Amino acid sequence: MAVADLVFQTLLDRGYHLEGCHHVWNLADSKLWYLSPSQARSFLAMTRASDYQQSVVIPELSLLSEYLPSLARHFSSQTTLNLVDFGCGDGYKAAFLVGTFHSRFRWHYLPLDVNAAFLRQAGRRLNQSNVKLVSFPPGDFLHLSPSQLSDKLSPCPSLFLLLGNTLGNFDDKHPLSFIHQVIRPGDCFIVGNGLVPPLSSADLLAAYSHPQIESWLFQLLALLGLHQQDLTYTVRFVNSRVEECFRFRRAVTLHHLNQALQFKPGDLLIIATSHKYTLASFRHCLATFFPRLQIFTNSNYHYALAFAFC
Ligand SMILES: C[S@@+](CC[C@H](N)C(=O)[O-])C[C@H]1O[C@@H](n2cnc3c(N)ncnc32)[C@H](O)[C@@H]1O
Repeated sequence: MAVADLVFQTLLDRGYHLEGCHHVWNLADSKLWYLSPSQARSFLAMTRASDYQQSVVIPELSLLSEYLPSLARHFSSQTTLNLVDFGCGDGYKAAFLVGTFHSRFRWHYLPLDVNAAFLRQAGRRLNQSNVKLVSFPPGDFLHLSPSQLSDKLSPCPSLFLLLGNTLGNFDDKHPLSFIHQVIRPGDCFIVGNGLVPPLSSADLLAAYSHPQIESWLFQLLALLGLHQQDLTYTVRFVNSRVEECFRFRRAVTLHHLNQALQFKPGDLLIIATSHKYTLASFRHCLATFFPRLQIFTNSNYHYALAFAFC
């Protein structure tokens, strides 16, 4: 199915709910944000912007460099490890992890992502003498059966990664349930996610109102043929999550797949959601699946890194 068809079909399938007299369409599904080359380019540009670096990349990398060495002790009797990177992006974090261990282990690296270009970039980045690439075609990792993944793993312990706030982009706990089904005794699952920061909600919303986030998320609507001048980007904090939305400024009719969808001024499209856990809710959400947990936070309790052991 073409990308635009998939996005339109998702709109049709999910429908809308009413807020007052306005229709609210929830199109927030993380796999839709990275499908086309322009979305992927725009996402990477956003991740290099200083706000994103300060709020996600730098806190996560500092926590990884501080606490990864303790994992070397956990795997002290091993020479080879599987490294399964859920939502690998450009592979930067996996390469950072491998680099942290120097040449202590040999790795079987299995990147998973919906975007083919990300998979290629991650493969190139991890092209090192102590890393063997195990390829998987692009796709939604939640559509894999646990055995499809387990069959690709070597008979050595595995490190599973879900980094960069990816967990918070899912509306339910589905990735945790999936990883719970594939993790085996001796394995470790590493999750990095933002916490509800000690920022005021106004500061939190300001961080998500960044023009580069707007530009990246608009790419999804451009695929549908919508025009930026017909929409206003808006961000709100509801139900413990940031919702990144576009509001229609005027009436628009969208024709696609032999159907027509009508939007009125004031109607809202939710394009992305990002759950912000408190430290307690982050622990609770993970502990439901992984009772053996270590959680670390940075000094301002803004970002958390968890090691879950099976
Ligand atoms: C927020 S980015 C994080 C990228 C990287 N892990 C990092 O920390 O920089 C989320 C990544 O997950 C991928 N992704 C999101 N939902 C996915 C899904 N359901 N199946 C496969 N990949 C997905 C995206 O393509 C993107 O590369």
